[in-house]
Amino acid sequence: MHPKDRLLVALDVDGRDEALALADCLRDVVGGFKVGMRLFYRQGPGIVSEIAERSPFVFLDLKLHDIPQTVGQAVRALVGLGAAMLNVHAGGGAAMLRAAAEAAAEEAGRIGRPRPLLVAVTVLTSLDDSSVRELGFETGARNLALRWAELAMHCGLDGVVASAWEASAIRVLTGPQFRIVSPGVRPAGEAAGDQRRVATPAAAVSAGADYLVIGRPITGAPDPVNAARRIVAEMGGLN
Ligand code: C5P
Repeated sequence: MHPKDRLLVALDVDGRDEALALADCLRDVVGGFKVGMRLFYRQGPGIVSEIAERSPFVFLDLKLHDIPQTVGQAVRALVGLGAAMLNVHAGGGAAMLRAAAEAAAEEAGRIGRPRPLLVAVTVLTSLDDSSVRELGFETGARNLALRWAELAMHCGLDGVVASAWEASAIRVLTGPQFRIVSPGVRPAGEAAGDQRRVATPAAAVSAGADYLVIGRPITGAPDPVNAARRIVAEMGGLN
């Protein structure tokens, strides 16, 4: 995989024009875009298709988490929007994960579109060991992420969203085909913001991450194209 293709830019903005302008200027220097709750709830489902017209790889990051029937139906509703990747929360449990995987495959077949990749969010990169224990888990963030990654694989998901801190252990557990998507990536010397378990682009790739999700270090930079290029170069690619 070319380093550029690993970089997914989180379009965490409110406005349609701002999101499309970022997509237009960055489309040739990155692998794709992530549409998350902020942009989706502001602009509605149509924004996904608009970004997908500009880039073949859109990750729709809505982190579905509900009972199996509800999540399955929600996945069906999302498949037609043209995203290449969707996600659910591993914390929703095995039945919910299976319902989501089945719904994605069935709906894609029904409408004659490629099946989107379905990945499970493990432990948010904004949570550390003390926040995980505070939630009632008697283990740390890393162990929980590994357990949830194995569960997601057994339930038929294509991969996980996980911190680069867990990527190499997840890779060993799940094998070479399982996709690992890592947010919480910060170029050397940049502010972590609300992210706790952060890694540099080079460290994330060498830990086994397939895709790096990076938002503010690019979208908040004075020159987003240059910031994206520098991150690709940091991953070991051409600038
Ligand atoms: O701006 P920043 O690079 O921190 O953006 C990271 C993006 O990845 C945000 O859109 C956030 O919602 C998302 N994300 C995350 N941690 C996860 C899953 C998704 O930070 N576990």
